[in-house]
Formats: sequence, C-alpha cells, structure tokens
Amino acid sequence: MNFIDKIILGDCEKILSGFPDNCIDLIFTSPPYADQRAKTYGGIKPDDYVEWFLPKTAQFFRVLKPTGTFILNIKERVVDGERHTYVIDLISKAREQGWLWTEEFIWHKKNSYPGKWPNRFRDNWERLIQFNKDKNFAMYQETVMVPVGSWAKERLAKLSDTDKTRDESRAGSGFGKNVSNWVGRDKVYPTNVLHMATETGNKNHSAVFPLDLPKWFIKLFTKPGDIVLDPFVGSGTTALAAIELGRSFVGIDINSEYVTLSRERIGESQLRLPAIAEKKANYIVAKNGKRRKTGKK
Ligand SMILES: C[S@@+](CC[C@H](N)C(=O)[O-])C[C@H]1O[C@@H](n2cnc3c(N)ncnc32)[C@H](O)[C@@H]1O
Repeated sequence: MNFIDKIILGDCEKILSGFPDNCIDLIFTSPPYADQRAKTYGGIKPDDYVEWFLPKTAQFFRVLKPTGTFILNIKERVVDGERHTYVIDLISKAREQGWLWTEEFIWHKKNSYPGKWPNRFRDNWERLIQFNKDKNFAMYQETVMVPVGSWAKERLAKLSDTDKTRDESRAGSGFGKNVSNWVGRDKVYPTNVLHMATETGNKNHSAVFPLDLPKWFIKLFTKPGDIVLDPFVGSGTTALAAIELGRSFVGIDINSEYVTLSRERIGESQLRLPAIAEKKANYIVAKNGKRRKTGKK
C-alpha cells in the first residue's frame, strides 16, 4: 500500500477510488465549508452540498475497515437568517448509504472572541459526527480518561440510594450508572463535549483545527500502527497528530499550496520521528486487536 504516510495532491474522491477496500482504521476530517470560504478554496453552495459530498462518503465507506470510525467535523452555516439543513440532510443520506450515525460530539471552542449579532449569540461550538459501518467498532476508552475533578469530593460524600444501585438509562440502552462505583477513583470517562481552544497560530491556512482535536479521536479510535486518513487534510494537522501518536497517516488535499504546507509541517516533525518510530515498534498487536508491549527499549 504505497499511499501510507503520504500527503497526496488531488480530489479525494478520485484518489480514494484507487485504494483497496477496508484498509483505513479512522477517517478524521473537516471538509470545506459550504460557500463560506469561496475565496480561499472554492466553496460549495449550501443547496448543492449534500450532492457534492455523497460520492466522497461512498468512497470513505468503501475504504474504511468494518471496525473503523469516520469523524466529520462540520457546522451548518446561517443562510438567510436561519440554519441551513445540509448537515441534517447529509446525515440522512449517509444513513441511506449504509453508515450508522453512532454519536455526535461537541467541540466547545474555549477561546472564541466576543461578538454581537441582532438575532443570535456568537457561535461557540462545532459538531463532530461519528459514523460507523458496524456497531462493533474499535474503541479504546481508557486512553481518553480525565481526572475525576473537584465535583467528586462533594458529590460522592452524599450518595443517595439510587446512586448506590444501578440507575438504568432511560433510553433502555442497557447502560446505566452506579455513582458509588466511582468512589476512590482518580480518573473517569469524559463526556461527549470537548473543551478545546481554537488554533490561533498562523499556519497559512484559514481553517486549521487544533492539534489536540484529531489527537483525542485518534487515541480513542485507533492503536499505534493503525492508519488514519484525512481526505481534506489542509495544513496537515491530522497527519501531524497521527505521527505524534505513532500511527500511520494518509492526507489528501486538492490544493497544491496546502499539500506543500502539509509536507513542510510534517517534515519539521520528522526530527521527532525516531522517538515515535521506537514507540510504534515497542508494541505488537495480538490477534484479538489488543496491544502488548514487546519489552524492547
Ligand atoms: C476545512 S479545510 C481543512 C483544514 C484542516 N483540518 C487543517 O487543520 O488545516 C478543507 C480542505 O479541503 C480541501 N479540499 C476541498 N475540496 C477537496 C477535494 N475534493 N478533495 C480533497 N481536498 C479538498 C481544501 O483545499 C481545504 O484545504
């Protein structure tokens, strides 16, 4: 597979049509926004967005492994005073293609600047929509656990009877919570709301997301050595995140300047690569998909 660890210039739909089936572990991407940044890279009209996107998601579906995950970072824009429905329409159509709409995460932008609009407040969050091919997808929840936080002391000191028994979820999903299970623990699972600052450094690209955003999802849905694809790689943030976590990557962008920019950013990180390669080599993957340390230094 000679596309591994490369940034490729071209239309992702065309490039991916040359990839084998079921070869990618995670697709993480932020596509061009509908119309908004037309000057920067030729926006697609909100009304045409779904039609433009669907042949690409069909390729994503084909190249993703059955255990893989596709995370789409997107937010509907306001058109003529109301939110356009292209994201909702895209979710519906993607389901018709066979995708499962497993989950939705919120990226809360911690550092967005103030503003005033006549009929709405500043937009402070984006969607990260999780699609899968199969209910049994790979997920490594322990890798993103967070410190239990200050609420714990007070809350856990006053446990009610319900807290001490299993409180079945109302949706009947079979998952529930028993708050007393968390007494004495210093780490808990995070929620589906991620609080991260936007990227403020000038990366010569107008829509760079913070490195921590792809990193969080790469840790959650892949193990070292897995392959992460960003079909709209822009300045190469997803590829960089993959490299830093010891994963392989494939980045595609239609704009040659961005491809050059990505390659430069990745080139800079090559200095750190020996340590990363070592990290990859220190693990072997058993048949059950679990990682095991080899003991090598
Ligand atoms: C929102 S930006 C991605 C920014 C990226 N997440 C980063 O951190 O820099 C979307 C990118 O998609 C690229 N693009 C647009 N249409 C494309 C296509 N058909 N195939 C591949 N890339 C495309 C644009 O050139 C742009 O760089």
